[in-house]
Amino acid sequence: MRKSEAANASFVSAGSEVPFWMTDIGENEIATVVETMAARSFSMGAVTAKMEAEIAKQLDVPYVLCTTSGSMALMMGLMAAGVGPGDEVIVPTRTFIATAHAASLLGARVVLVDSRSDSPNMDVAEAEKKITPRSKAIMPVHLNGRVCDMSAIRVLAEKHGLAVIEDACQGIFSRGPDGYQGTLGDCGCFSFGMVKLVSTGQGGAIVTRDKAMYEKLAAMRNHGVADVVSHTYLTTGHNFKFNDLLASIGLWQVRRGPEKVAHVNAVYKRYREGFEGLSFIELVPVGVECGEAALWTEAVSEERDNLMAFLAGEGIQTRKFIPCVHTAPHFDSGERFPNSERYSRTGFNLPCGPDMPLDYVDRTIEVLKKYEKASINP
Ligand SMILES: Cc1ncc(COP(=O)(O)O)c(C=O)c1O
Repeated sequence: MRKSEAANASFVSAGSEVPFWMTDIGENEIATVVETMAARSFSMGAVTAKMEAEIAKQLDVPYVLCTTSGSMALMMGLMAAGVGPGDEVIVPTRTFIATAHAASLLGARVVLVDSRSDSPNMDVAEAEKKITPRSKAIMPVHLNGRVCDMSAIRVLAEKHGLAVIEDACQGIFSRGPDGYQGTLGDCGCFSFGMVKLVSTGQGGAIVTRDKAMYEKLAAMRNHGVADVVSHTYLTTGHNFKFNDLLASIGLWQVRRGPEKVAHVNAVYKRYREGFEGLSFIELVPVGVECGEAALWTEAVSEERDNLMAFLAGEGIQTRKFIPCVHTAPHFDSGERFPNSERYSRTGFNLPCGPDMPLDYVDRTIEVLKKYEKASINP
């Protein structure tokens, strides 16, 4: 078994030959984990600092802090912006619920916004309608590497005095017209979960261009301690630290960023070519020609559930889009979000990832063509 096959074994459901996701774990990751363990000191230290420096270099951002998860990075960003009880935070309903939980766990009220009609990303005009004197922050989520309209968001934020906490958990290495996602607001958050471009199993990072914010976040990561020599308590905080074993994996994952982007975008383009002439399925567009990274290959189809069953019958694993935030009972106010709901109902992810062989993509396209023939001549 190749190393990547072993690493992917947990993603393959029984009977599937083509998994929904294939990550890439190289020899360097394994060798560095062994070295770090052999040094017998692997709490947050020199390797984490190296990984942070590598992220800073690649994303052209001065300040980076690794932490336990993307969810925690989001919460740290909101805490640093002073979000708390009585505040409102603007969040798209089409996101992983972690975005909303980061705000609600701090006691803020989550105000949900629909997607655009032509993209799952948040509709900024709708967001503006939801701003009140209590609004404190806005959380643009760059879904699957698609950059949100950051110039419009910055204008809104300035006009209404909002902090901009970017959720770039699905967008590391993805660029918009003004730079890398996550580096365009007050701070930006990344996830290093298993189905992300940089995977350490668990983990995340928060980045900022603001020195004062960085110092606050750095202290917050260690129970508010400004530095371990003076042990002065600068702010409130908790144990949000990363560790050097995870950084031993992440350092190399970050170094291979450009290669990973090239591969996931090649997968996306292969599907795009293969889908020409298919009427029952469409890719959800990602601007791969403009610097965006298609972390996942996402498609929509009115026949989604039949298609997923047909693919599963041929040994091909796919994954439904996650439901919108407003479907959770604790965020359901009865308001409807028609664009977001359409994506939830029709969207799914095709086999993809930084180590997904293009042969598997071709096989998936062939099976989709077989489905078309079967549905024309049942
Ligand atoms: C948009 C978004 N926000 C936040 C998160 C949370 O990241 P983590 O799983 O690292 O906590 C994810 C994870 O998938 C995500 O996709």
